[in-house]
Amino acid sequence: MKIIGSGSALPRQVVTNEMLTQILDTSDEWIVSHTGIRERHIIKDERLSDLAAQAAQAALEDAKLTVGDLDLVMCTNVISDCITPGPACFVAGALGFDGLTLDVNGACTGFIQALDIADTYFRANKARRILVVAAEKPTHLADWSDRSLCVLFGDGAGAVVLEKGEESGLLAAHFGAQFSDEFLIMPSKRSNCPYTDDPYREGYMYMNGQEVYRFAVSSCISDLQTVSQKSGIPLESIDWFLLHQANQRILNAARVRLKLPEERFPGNIERLGNTSSACIPLLIDEMRRDGRLRPGQLVAMSAFGAGLSHGAAILKT
Ligand code: UT7
Repeated sequence: MKIIGSGSALPRQVVTNEMLTQILDTSDEWIVSHTGIRERHIIKDERLSDLAAQAAQAALEDAKLTVGDLDLVMCTNVISDCITPGPACFVAGALGFDGLTLDVNGACTGFIQALDIADTYFRANKARRILVVAAEKPTHLADWSDRSLCVLFGDGAGAVVLEKGEESGLLAAHFGAQFSDEFLIMPSKRSNCPYTDDPYREGYMYMNGQEVYRFAVSSCISDLQTVSQKSGIPLESIDWFLLHQANQRILNAARVRLKLPEERFPGNIERLGNTSSACIPLLIDEMRRDGRLRPGQLVAMSAFGAGLSHGAAILKT
């Protein structure tokens, strides 16, 4: 499996830290020093499904393919324009794809999970080319009166076209889920059924930032070590570490503990914030287009988020 095309789409509206100081008791200094984020894109009048379709179209064009070349369209997403149909159906509709669509709600780990699913389809000879679109609008889940939460997120969509190769490029993958509804959860708000006593019915996203921070650093380190052991590839030989962009301090802490060079940890958090499962494909698209990410390089990915779910993979591009 290899990446043969990529694309991205961001909402037009940019919200800077300075703009946030007009609605919250916060400062550019606090947000930058605690998270590394300076600005983010937030959906105003676009539909997330349209951004997903734009990213998908750009990835197809980059791969020099048409929709008829695809065997599967997969979307990773937490909240979309509708609960059902899922965003993969919207993308399929926009592209004119009439085949299998799959939606993966793996929170921030979703994109790496989708790569693993794609690899399984390739190994089973059930597909030759798969489109994966990660489309997220976490800004619509946050409580905008909670300054410790809403400043973290941004919206956007990133897409890749994957092609089955002679050998699998996915050299190792590892996943875990430690269920807890105490640390990071977004309850459903959709029901007004008078007979139900569902405790998850009301509310915004809840996050215990410090607990998630600790979990993120430790799972990132141990997952990267696990995929290194599974693949037999030392982390020192990896060209790029593409990590879920939750907080620059989390990325720095993991890198320092793994004793790896800073220049191998590219990021987009400063400009985009935490775009959930879209962080990594947005980074992949940027790096392919500016020439940093080249065929044959080794990429290690790691992500963590609600679940608590976590995972990592090593991919030969
Ligand atoms: O993709 C999902 C995964 N999510 C994550 O990985 C998030 C992990 N957690 C984090 O990134 C960090 O815990 C946060 C960025 C959420 C918070 O940073 P922190 O260094 O853990 O801050 P804190 O929650 O301990 O808060 C420290 C202080 C508090 O004030 P007091 O009680 O010390 O007076 C907060 O009220 O900072 C205050 N604070 C703020 N001040 C200005 C919290 N948010 C803000 C803010 N502006 N936006």
